[in-house]
Amino acid sequence: MPYSKIIGSGGFLPPRVVTNNDLAAELATRNIETSDDWIIERTGIRQRHLADPGVTTSQLATEAARRALLDAGIQAADLDLIIVATSTPDHIFPSTACLVQAALGARGGAAFDVQAVCSGFVYALTTADAFIQAGRARTALVIGAEVFSSILDWNDRGTCVLFGDGAGAVVLRADDQPGILAAKLGADGSQMNILCAAGNVSHGAVVGDPFLRMDGQAVFKLAVTSLTRSANDVCSMAGVRLDDIDWLVPHQANIRIINFLGRRLGVPDERVVVTVDQHANTSAASVPLALDAARHDGRIKAGDLVMMQGVGGGFTWGSVLVRM
Ligand code: UT7
Repeated sequence: MPYSKIIGSGGFLPPRVVTNNDLAAELATRNIETSDDWIIERTGIRQRHLADPGVTTSQLATEAARRALLDAGIQAADLDLIIVATSTPDHIFPSTACLVQAALGARGGAAFDVQAVCSGFVYALTTADAFIQAGRARTALVIGAEVFSSILDWNDRGTCVLFGDGAGAVVLRADDQPGILAAKLGADGSQMNILCAAGNVSHGAVVGDPFLRMDGQAVFKLAVTSLTRSANDVCSMAGVRLDDIDWLVPHQANIRIINFLGRRLGVPDERVVVTVDQHANTSAASVPLALDAARHDGRIKAGDLVMMQGVGGGFTWGSVLVRM
């Protein structure tokens, strides 16, 4: 059975940077109080990139994809599978993956979206890996992309300070050398209410609440427990020890969750990739953006053992262990 090898990655962030102070000043005009100190202390976030009005998830995804294809040294025509993980698709349908396929000028391969909120990228990566292992695809593009700012309630200081926009992508290719070694996904739908955007569109009108709502403390607790268990599970599946991991690339929601997780797993801070300070939480884009940043600044190298982890609404979680 072939392995799925990561042969390229790319990331794209919209150019508009909004610092905590910028955001605090903007919210103050509506009598909503927040501060750089509060945001940094509770989350580690210093700034986020926000898409301008009219910029879509498929546009960010396409730019990240172009960079990943260039990095991999392959053409869009070589792709036989495109999966986009997003909770902020351009349209109800067609899928954002089909829009990206058209924008890249690829044609004929499978293209579809995966919806697992902040776990979306690890869900999409695991799905693409299963296609490759089964011989149903040879070269896959896996993207996490969001314009999360479009579903934020900018009057809710408990959530609007936490998120940002962006896209990250990897190219996978079938290879007889490892590759993705193990992956495990999980969900607990009974926890759907702790993190949701429970709206819908029906007969031309928004039905329900289209904004993201979150019970931050419940999410915090479940994130730490599910990710700890999930990390141990994939290590057992692959027959490696947590000590063997060169790099932990966790979902970038909150520095306190990341630090807590690193300590629980015994992975020292210097082997944990952190971008939440610069990007905030970009949901499905956070893991591929962090992976790409650490590949391109030379930290993650060929041969390294990397654990990627996602966690988020659903409630969902998942881990992927990969030999780069
Ligand atoms: O992909 C998964 C995405 N989500 C997460 O990972 C979120 C996980 N949870 C968290 O990161 C944290 O729970 C938060 C950062 C969301 C909140 O931190 P917390 O330490 O749990 O704070 P809290 O919700 O208990 O709120 C503490 C206080 C409250 O005021 P009172 O009731 O003590 O007077 C909030 O109203 O902080 C207040 N507060 C704020 N103050 C200034 C909430 N948001 C803000 C804000 N600025 N932006």
